[in-house]
Amino acid sequence: MSLQLADKKPSVPSHVAIIMDGNGRWACERGLPRLAGHRAGAEAVGRCIRAAIQRGVPYLTLYAFSSENWSRGPKEVSDLTGLLRYYLRHKVKELHTEGVCLRFIGDLSRFEPALRDELSRAEAMTRNNKRLVLLLALSYGGRGDIMQAVRRVAQEVRDGWLTPDQINEDLFTNHLWTAGVPDPDVMVRTSGEYRLSNFLLWQSAYAELVFLDVFWPDFNEGHFATVLDLYARRERRFGARPSASA
Ligand code: IPE
Ligand code: IPE
Ligand code: MG
Repeated sequence: MSLQLADKKPSVPSHVAIIMDGNGRWACERGLPRLAGHRAGAEAVGRCIRAAIQRGVPYLTLYAFSSENWSRGPKEVSDLTGLLRYYLRHKVKELHTEGVCLRFIGDLSRFEPALRDELSRAEAMTRNNKRLVLLLALSYGGRGDIMQAVRRVAQEVRDGWLTPDQINEDLFTNHLWTAGVPDPDVMVRTSGEYRLSNFLLWQSAYAELVFLDVFWPDFNEGHFATVLDLYARRERRFGARPSASA
């Protein structure tokens, strides 16, 4: 029975979620402005997407900007939104050709309307692609995600579409920004920090955690392979008995 459980785990995760951290420190070590670190971080995003496609990972979620990151001040926020705009304009077609379906999760209402339109256009263009679903978390917070789901469920109860006893975990999951996406199997954080920083709090209930001692701009295909190797060697139990025990 327990062997079966272990055997059931596919060696490639269905969903890899990454907290891309360390751009600022990477730049600081080189005596460069933080923006240079964010630019180099955007290059690492490309390498990470290519690796996910090559290794056959169907879902990849990248934490690019948290709801708390708005507090960094207007200069850094505008540098980051400027970079986002640049990549939307120059990379979306390429992602589309490679079969990537783009989805943006987070409180997008905090971005200006023109940028929101560009995000919607990128989603619409890539909607039917099947090779990789790439979720980019922007202005995202796990607590914010849970709160907006609570509000929508409450509204549906108030409007008479739902009764309180119909509210269960599946229904709630389907109201999160990640609706329709399987929970992450593995959650990665770079830069040597050991925290979740408000990322996918509900969805990561049983994610395997991997912390890498590399600043995000240095992340490459080899690190992605390391993540998959570590994951393949983990025994997932979901509360059941370890497979070695009788
Ligand atoms: C991650 O790198 C990118 C964002 C949070 C936008 P940081 O900018 O947090 O880099 P460090 O942690 O200061 O090195
Ligand atoms: C988390 O990194 C958010 C992103 C990587 C986008 P932070 O650098 O903002 O997290 P803290 O402040 O170190 O927890
Ligand atoms: Mg950081």
